[in-house]
Amino acid sequence: MPTTCSSRSTARLPPRRIPDPVGSEPPWWTRSTVYQIYPRSFADSNGDGIGDLQGILARLDYLHALGVDVLWLSPIYASPQDDNGYDISDYQSIDPVFGTLDDFDALLTSVHERGMKLVMDLVVNHTSDEHPWFVESRSSRDNPKRDWYWWRPARTGFEPGTPAAEPTNWGSFFSGPTWSYDVATGEYYLHLFSRKQPDLNWENPDVRAAVYEMMRWWLDRGVDGFRMDVVNMLSKDVSLPDGLVRPGLEFGDGWPSFICGPRIHEFLAEMTAEVFRGRDARAFLTVDDAALFTDPARREVDMVFQFEHVGVDHGATKWDLIPLDLPRLKRSFNRWQLGLADVGWNSLYWDNHDQPRVVSRFGDDGTSRVRSAKALATVLHLQRGTPYVYQGDELGLTNTPFASIDEYRDIETLRYYASAVAAGGDPGAVMAKIRVASRDNARTPMPWDASPHAGFTAGEPWIAVNPNFVDINAEAAQSDADSVFHHYRRLIELRRAHPVVALGDYTPLLADDPVVFAFHRRLDPDELLVVANVSGAPATAPIDDVDAWRDAELLISADEDVNVATGGFDLRAWEAFVLRRTVATSG
Ligand code: GLC
Ligand code: CA
Repeated sequence: MPTTCSSRSTARLPPRRIPDPVGSEPPWWTRSTVYQIYPRSFADSNGDGIGDLQGILARLDYLHALGVDVLWLSPIYASPQDDNGYDISDYQSIDPVFGTLDDFDALLTSVHERGMKLVMDLVVNHTSDEHPWFVESRSSRDNPKRDWYWWRPARTGFEPGTPAAEPTNWGSFFSGPTWSYDVATGEYYLHLFSRKQPDLNWENPDVRAAVYEMMRWWLDRGVDGFRMDVVNMLSKDVSLPDGLVRPGLEFGDGWPSFICGPRIHEFLAEMTAEVFRGRDARAFLTVDDAALFTDPARREVDMVFQFEHVGVDHGATKWDLIPLDLPRLKRSFNRWQLGLADVGWNSLYWDNHDQPRVVSRFGDDGTSRVRSAKALATVLHLQRGTPYVYQGDELGLTNTPFASIDEYRDIETLRYYASAVAAGGDPGAVMAKIRVASRDNARTPMPWDASPHAGFTAGEPWIAVNPNFVDINAEAAQSDADSVFHHYRRLIELRRAHPVVALGDYTPLLADDPVVFAFHRRLDPDELLVVANVSGAPATAPIDDVDAWRDAELLISADEDVNVATGGFDLRAWEAFVLRRTVATSG
C-alpha cells in the first residue's frame, strides 16, 4: 500500500508529552480499555432485525462485567445506510433504525451511571449525498455551498460524462473511479469512498466551522469524545494530480494527494482548539490502511490508530491475503511501541468493523480457538497504549463462512465482487478471497445465547448469524471460568491493577523468532515478562535472563504454570503468560 506519511522518521521525537506517571495523574485514556460497538449488529430491542440503542442499553451490565471503561459507538446518526452509517445525512439526529435522541440520552446517562464513558464515531471527511449541505451544493454551480465539496470540470479535451473524462485517474476504496458526474451542473464531485459519500472540502473555513459547531453540540450533550473516521484524509493536495497506475491495476493511486495532506496538522490543531479546549473530552484518530501517521512533533491528538499491523498479511490488495509473517508483525508493533514511547499514545487493537476476525486470521479458529484467542489477546493487551475490544473479540468469534455472495451486505465486498467478476475473475476464486477478507466477517450479529438467531433479535437479522453461535455465545462464555471472555476480563483488570501494564516502558525480545512473541515492560519497581507462542506446535522461548524469572509471580496464563528450561522457557501450543517481578528502583 502506498503511503506518504511513512517516510517520516520516528527518531525525531520531541520531549515527552504524556505526563510523567510519577507525580502527576496520567490522563484517563491511558488506563482505559475501549469497547467498540457496531450498533447494527449488537442487540436488537424491537424485532426489526437491526441492533439499536435500546438493545445496547439492555446489555450494559454485560459490558460492565467485562470491565471496559469506554464505549465507542460506530455511527448512529441519520443516514441512508449506504455504508452502514458511515454516510451521514444529519449529524445532529439519530437514525430511526437505531432509535431517538431520547434513547441516546438515556443510554448516555446509563453509561455514565456505571462509571463508563461514551465516544461517538464521527465521519467528517465526507457526508452522505443526501446531507442538505450536498443537496444544496449540487443544486447549482453558484450555490454558496458549491465549494463545500470538491467539484471539478471534466478532464481537458474530454467530453463530460464519457469514459476517462474524470478529473483525476484515482480509484475509489470501494472500486470504480473516485469521481461521479453530475449531469445537472455538468461537473464531477469527488468521493474517495462510494458515490453516496462525497468528500467535504476542508479548505473552506465555513465547512470547518460547521463541523466544529456540531462537535461542540455533542460534547455539550455529554459525550466524552469522538473516534474520528479517516481523519488523515481531510487535507488534500488542491492541485489534485493524477496518480501512478501500477501494473495490472485499472486506476491511479491518489494516496500521495490525500493521505496526510499538506494542511492536516493545521486542521487538527484548529479542531483541538475550537472543539476541545478546556474540556476533558478527546478525539481518537484513525489512520487508515498502513498509512503511518508518525510526525509526533506536530501531533495534535491524544491517540492514533495505525493500520500497519492489520496490513501485514495483505498482498497486492486487501483481497490478496498472504500467510502471516510473525517477525514482520512484531516489527510493526515494536516500531509503534518504541516510536510512541515518549510522546503520543497508541491504540491497541486486532479487530474492528473493517477487519476479518483475528482468531481466523492470525490464530486457529478450529481446535485451538480458545487458546489462540487468549494468546493473541495477551500480547496485545500487555502492550503500552489503550486496548480496544471489538464486539465479539472477547468471545473469540470467528469469521463467518457465507456460501454465496447474496449473503453479504457490505458495500465494499459487493462492489469488489462485481468489479472482479466483470473483469473476468473466476467467481469461485473471488468468493474464496471474500470469505477470508470481507468486512462482513466482523459484522455478523453478536451471539448472546444459543436461542434462535443467537438471542440477537426476535425477528429476521439483517445479516445471518454465524452458525457456530450454538457453542460460541456470551451466555456460555460467562458461565465458563476458562472462557475467552474471562481471560479478557482478567486482562482488563490487570491494566487497572498494575500501572506497569498501562504505562511501563516496552522492550521487544526475540524480534526474529518465527513463532514467539515476547517483550519486557518496566515501571519501577515492577517488571513484566510477556511471552506467547503464536503457533499450534510446542516451541522454546530462549529468554536470556530466564533465571531472574524463576520466582516471579504468574499474573495470567491459560495454563497452570510455566516450564522453565535451561536458557529459556518451553512453551505449549498457543501458550501465553505474563510474569511479574520486583526490581531495584533506579535513580
Ligand atoms: C472508515 C470506516 C469504514 C468506512 C470508511 C468510509 O474506513 O472504518 O467502515 O467504510 O471509513 O467512511
Ligand atoms: Ca431494532
